[in-house]
Amino acid sequence: MRILSASILSADFGRLAEQIHQAEAAGVDWIHVDVMDGLFVPNITIGPPVVAAIRRVTKLPLDVHLMIEKPERYLEAFVEAGADWLGIHVEATLHLERQLKRIQELGAKATVTLNPATPLETLEYVLDEVDMVLLMTVNPGFSGQKFIPAMLAKIRRLRRMIDERGGQALLQVDGGVHLDTVDQLVEAGVDVFVSGSGIFNENDIFENVRRLKEKINRKHP
Ligand code: DX5
Ligand code: ZN
Repeated sequence: MRILSASILSADFGRLAEQIHQAEAAGVDWIHVDVMDGLFVPNITIGPPVVAAIRRVTKLPLDVHLMIEKPERYLEAFVEAGADWLGIHVEATLHLERQLKRIQELGAKATVTLNPATPLETLEYVLDEVDMVLLMTVNPGFSGQKFIPAMLAKIRRLRRMIDERGGQALLQVDGGVHLDTVDQLVEAGVDVFVSGSGIFNENDIFENVRRLKEKINRKHP
């Protein structure tokens, strides 16, 4: 079963609880929360108090994507706030292996995340330990960017790496996941699809989710 994770970065923050309820009713599987610090990425978004508030309005798993420098400073705060999955970027910390383990020790699932230009080789010594790998399919910072086509080959290669090792890690993608890009992502072997503008834009959350899920869950050889 593939998973659709709704990125609230594209939601109307003034009506966040309502929009999350709509996404949940429409059938999204997880809520994806983008945390940005204005350093690792140019944008600034939200911190642990908002994650805690979201935790109170939904039972869905919270998939928290940290786009912050030195994420080790905040792992505990985000797990305490209610993150079920906590993702850190390989580019943002010197002691990656230690921080991924720490996330698991704190009781959350650990996601290791790669920017588009970061090679898969950086995963070599952590791949067997992590719960999920997130491949960015846009440069992080904003919703509504275009999917980078060169990422397809990277996704396929990671799929092979995980399968050849008999690995358990889920393969997640984030950025530019829309009705017109999702089929090729299903074929490339993605397990978890993050979508922001594909769900919250146009104001028809229900229809957006229905159409995305139909594609995501279709069988392919
Ligand atoms: C980008 C964020 C994404 C973003 C995706 O830095 O990590 O989660 O919200 O938005 P779309 O689906 O619109 O590309
Ligand atoms: Zn994200």
